[in-house]
Amino acid sequence: KDNKNQNLRCPIVCVLGHVDHGKTTLLDKIRKTRVAKREAGGITQHIGASEIPIDVIKRLCGDLLKMLKADLKIPGLLVIDTPGHEAFTSLRKRGGALADIAILVVDINEGFKPQTVEAVNILRQCKTPFVVAANKIDLIPGWNSKEGPFILNFNEKAQHPNALTEFEIRLYENIIKPLNELGFDADLYSRVQDVTKTVCIIPVSAVTGEGVPDLLMMVAGLAQKFLEDRLKLNVEGYAKGTILEVKEEKGLGTTIDAIIYDGIAKRGDYLVVGLPDDVLVTRVKALLKPKPLDEMRDPRDKFKPVNEVTAAAGVKIAAPELDKVIAGCPIRIVPKDKIEEAKEEVMREVEEAKIEVDDEGILIKADTLGSLEALANELRKAGVKIKKAEVGDVTKKDIIEVASYKQSNPLHGAIVAFNVKILPEAQKEIEKYDIKVFLDNIIYKLVEDFTEWVKKEEE
Ligand code: GTP
Ligand code: MG
Ligand code: NA
Repeated sequence: KDNKNQNLRCPIVCVLGHVDHGKTTLLDKIRKTRVAKREAGGITQHIGASEIPIDVIKRLCGDLLKMLKADLKIPGLLVIDTPGHEAFTSLRKRGGALADIAILVVDINEGFKPQTVEAVNILRQCKTPFVVAANKIDLIPGWNSKEGPFILNFNEKAQHPNALTEFEIRLYENIIKPLNELGFDADLYSRVQDVTKTVCIIPVSAVTGEGVPDLLMMVAGLAQKFLEDRLKLNVEGYAKGTILEVKEEKGLGTTIDAIIYDGIAKRGDYLVVGLPDDVLVTRVKALLKPKPLDEMRDPRDKFKPVNEVTAAAGVKIAAPELDKVIAGCPIRIVPKDKIEEAKEEVMREVEEAKIEVDDEGILIKADTLGSLEALANELRKAGVKIKKAEVGDVTKKDIIEVASYKQSNPLHGAIVAFNVKILPEAQKEIEKYDIKVFLDNIIYKLVEDFTEWVKKEEE
């Protein structure tokens, strides 16, 4: 391995934007994957992660890299995909806070939408620098879109004058103007003089691949520059991370998929996990790395065992007692003498993320802390009272608990459950106590179905 670059930190790039503006499809184009097409309801509902190695970036950028006046020294980019649906504010905030740099994806034809504005405000709050990927340029009337650098396709030879005019209008009206209104100077990236003062806009098409080299070149160049400016290039200390998913793996038992956003994780060190009412300390049995360009949530390939993982990276961790942990929880991977410090850190983080509940109401369940929070927020917005919010499958105990809620108010005899299972033992109890269980893998459908049921019951 290249010793010189061993401690060079891989920048975290968060992809944010309004629902369906093309975040996942854009990453699919870069990775040559098809994640977007397999998502329930066509929307992203979790945080995803994938690594783009530097050689892939260099290959895709080709001669464009000469536009950067520096050599790329970063080992690659760790890209975090986030959901654009309004329910997932907490995941966008988490992604925005983790990131060194962000890509704000905006459909150039639709322009700024509520979650675009929300994303800009999150980035402003976190002081995260960002570029804009002005997506779906292939849909500009008359635009002749083709794979490769945008900059080579943006001239009178390649485009009809009307298409160029239409492009300029959309670029200004739908992207530059709304950014100005939010207090940001912005321009087409090739016209930007000072990247620290003006937001760079890179026109792209996630469908044709046009502009992907320009986007990668700018993001890699800027990420390196910002990291250098902040002297954050070297990785030191123990690993800090967050759990994306808890998964059964053949031969390994229960494992967690996590993002390590800072520090170094070592096999044999102690894994400290902050749980809602507890802290778990266990020993790391194995660290496994996903293949480059694989989306961790939907990998094409097997994970590879390693002794050490340096931030930023996605990693699968095997350790005893992981069946107790839940997605969304904070983690640390530390040597023995740092366990107490790590415990305090994760407990503080968990406390800050707790969901508030009402004196009376329904029970809600979800697969991760992030989706539970999203579900709670969406139900609240619809005026629904929540007595208890928990991560996990629907159990017999849940049904018996809700049966007691129902006695004081029939409309509270319900469970709203996102992306979990109803355990077989619970099924009989559901019938016995006549409990209404709403189960779906699309958050907004759950909220709709539940509020419709309440309306009918009230009539
Ligand atoms: P959420 O994660 O749910 O917020 O959506 P997203 O931003 O990840 O968008 P997604 O990748 O799911 O794409 C939404 C739709 O837009 C899909 O039907 C894509 O095929 C389509 N789409 C994405 N990018 C482009 C593009 O550049 N051109 C065209 N024509 N369609 C696109
Ligand atoms: Mg998506
Ligand atoms: Na989508």
